[in-house]
Amino acid sequence: MEPEKEIHPSDDAQSEYIVGASDEMKRVLRLAEKIAPTETTVLLTGESGTGKEKVARYIHLNSARATRPFVAVNAAAIPEGLIESELFGHVRGAFTDARDRKRGFFEMADGGTLFLDEIAETSLSVQVRLLRALQDREIRPVGSDSTLKVNVRIVAATNRDLRQAIADGSFREDLFYRLNVFRILLPALRDRKKDIPFLAEYFLRLFIDRTGRNLKGFTERAMSMMLNYGYPGNVRELENAVERSATLAEGGWIQPADLPPEISEGGLPLLTEGTVETFPDDLTLEELEKRYIERVLDKLGGNMTHAAKSLGISRSTLWRKVNKYGLKGGDVEA
Ligand SMILES: Nc1ncnc2c1ncn2[C@@H]1O[C@H](COP(=O)(O)OP(=O)(O)OP(=O)(O)O)[C@@H](O)[C@H]1O
Ligand SMILES: [Mg+2]
Repeated sequence: MEPEKEIHPSDDAQSEYIVGASDEMKRVLRLAEKIAPTETTVLLTGESGTGKEKVARYIHLNSARATRPFVAVNAAAIPEGLIESELFGHVRGAFTDARDRKRGFFEMADGGTLFLDEIAETSLSVQVRLLRALQDREIRPVGSDSTLKVNVRIVAATNRDLRQAIADGSFREDLFYRLNVFRILLPALRDRKKDIPFLAEYFLRLFIDRTGRNLKGFTERAMSMMLNYGYPGNVRELENAVERSATLAEGGWIQPADLPPEISEGGLPLLTEGTVETFPDDLTLEELEKRYIERVLDKLGGNMTHAAKSLGISRSTLWRKVNKYGLKGGDVEA
């Protein structure tokens, strides 16, 4: 099996550009730049699609190892029976199909960076072997009686809560401490909305460069819907949304109708057409507020964090109103 991705410095530099307009993302990049030139193991956490792999490459490219390989391994994608030989290699004749000696990912990354993605998806037995490799800085290929020194910098990533995984027995605490030397949390896109227009423009630019299509940008209404949306799939979801919208757009501008429905319908702009009209007009302001909050909660699956954001109020204010009006849905969290 090939490593998921292996990049070398000759790769298209533009694909390594990182948008970081928000204070949250600036902080992430500052941390990454600080830690990059060291040999420290880095643990990247954050929801799916927040840019963990992007930051892992950034760390690699800003390190002294930049001219050596970056090897990305998705631990969740390798079948359990193969993972040991994929990571550590095997000698000729180690098992029936092993006709030749094979280098593992640790050897491929020698002198460079090994990115262990979805680290929480490894089995406990693989975790033991990883721990040993990290501690001893040497590996033993499957079927070999001798060990090999390896020189790799480890960057690991997960979208799971490793402390929870430790608590439920699926992740080894000793490996956690090995990996958690320097942790960087990638914030969810809904918590750094300032990045949304910059990311959207960036992905649109890439689309235009790739396709040669003549697109000028997003209409104000389309952009406002994009800003109002919660992006459970984070930057990757935004990237796909821009791609789709740009493909559909006619007449030079990306319009609301070009956006994926969850964005054009889920944005809940306050009191725009079609929203307020469906409320009877003999309601008191309180009653209107109650019904509107109810509707927002309903649309966002009862998620208090998202609903508060969408309403432009704090979570504690929303809690108060939910209790006051006796609404339900307050038990669902982000
Ligand atoms: N700040 C950013 N600037 C530019 N592109 C970004 C940024 N963050 C993420 N991307 C792009 O968004 C997509 C998702 O990012 P990435 O694969 O790094 O996320 P991830 O956290 O590893 O996700 P998963 O947990 O699903 O593997 C990629 O195409 C990446 O290039
Ligand atoms: Mg990833």
